[in-house]
Amino acid sequence: MTVVVARAPGRVNLIGEHTDTTGGLVLPMAVDRDTVVRLEPGGRVLRLTSVDEPEPVRLDLADPAEPSTVRPAWGRYVAAVAAVVGARVGGRGRVRTDIPIGAGLSSSAALEVAVALALGFEGTTLELARACQEAEQLASGVPCGIMDQLASAAGVDGHALLIDCRSLEVEPVPVPDDLQVVVVDSGQRRTLDTSAYAVRRSEFETAERAVGALRGATAADVARIDDPLLRRRARHVTSENERVRAAVDALRAGDHRGLGGLLFESHRSLRDDAEVSTPVLDDLVDALSRVPGVHGARLVGAGFGGCCVALTEPGVTLDLGTESWVVRPSAGASIAAAPPPGHPPEVL
Ligand code: GLA
Repeated sequence: MTVVVARAPGRVNLIGEHTDTTGGLVLPMAVDRDTVVRLEPGGRVLRLTSVDEPEPVRLDLADPAEPSTVRPAWGRYVAAVAAVVGARVGGRGRVRTDIPIGAGLSSSAALEVAVALALGFEGTTLELARACQEAEQLASGVPCGIMDQLASAAGVDGHALLIDCRSLEVEPVPVPDDLQVVVVDSGQRRTLDTSAYAVRRSEFETAERAVGALRGATAADVARIDDPLLRRRARHVTSENERVRAAVDALRAGDHRGLGGLLFESHRSLRDDAEVSTPVLDDLVDALSRVPGVHGARLVGAGFGGCCVALTEPGVTLDLGTESWVVRPSAGASIAAAPPPGHPPEVL
């Protein structure tokens, strides 16, 4: 009996938000929380149970359903991955995760990447990320960028990843041990529906029709945009790309306060120019800014609720009445055969 064990981590983005869809710069890191799919491959039907979900998923790969119609809802991600990677062999398996679901740590990207590997995906890390990005779009209807899936697939232990979403080059940047990364749950569950994210993406694209690619645009180009709303959107993207470069310099120089200042600036830009924040997230960042030992904080991920990321001195605990998780930069996805017979089985 062959059993494969595929694992894929969640991610947190240090800086570079709402830039990936216009070929911009992002600086995420894979985290030490992951999703594991343990599968015994065989047959044309895929049966998965999940420790965290009451209902199992059953997919007939010989007669695939439209992924967005699959029930239970978590099965949509599985079905979309199976469709995109053209899976022909199913099997029986189990999923478990310690990534908080729906909190902004890319639990869905981790599920997609782990399922793709378990289903035998063969290709480069970038091809894996692209396939899973396509699956996310199919399953959720959200026209997401590539950041989440690429961070999960390509993570490097102890490093953040500078990803150029135009060339898709990935450059690992060490995260020093004396910089603590904390994900702070706002408690506000995403009001992100498919439209809020899609509307932002189309606004960025409309701005690009006025001034050309935002990735190459200057502040003077942006100032030429007549429509004030589109000008704000473009200003967010161009300034955020600059902040990512500055953040990499600060990380390399060990300038934690400078780096933290860039996170606060990023939040202001996400609030005022991209307009993807909420009063709850703004209050949380404000509260974080007053905690001793916090270098910087901002909303993380798509926004409209979810989490903030804070950079702090080591050992700082954030007692703000919401849940928070210290995360470590970790390795990306992997696949292995299960332990041989006689070896204590992994508990899932
Ligand atoms: C979501 C998307 C990403 C990215 C972020 C915002 O997480 O999946 O592609 O656009 O929002 O930076």
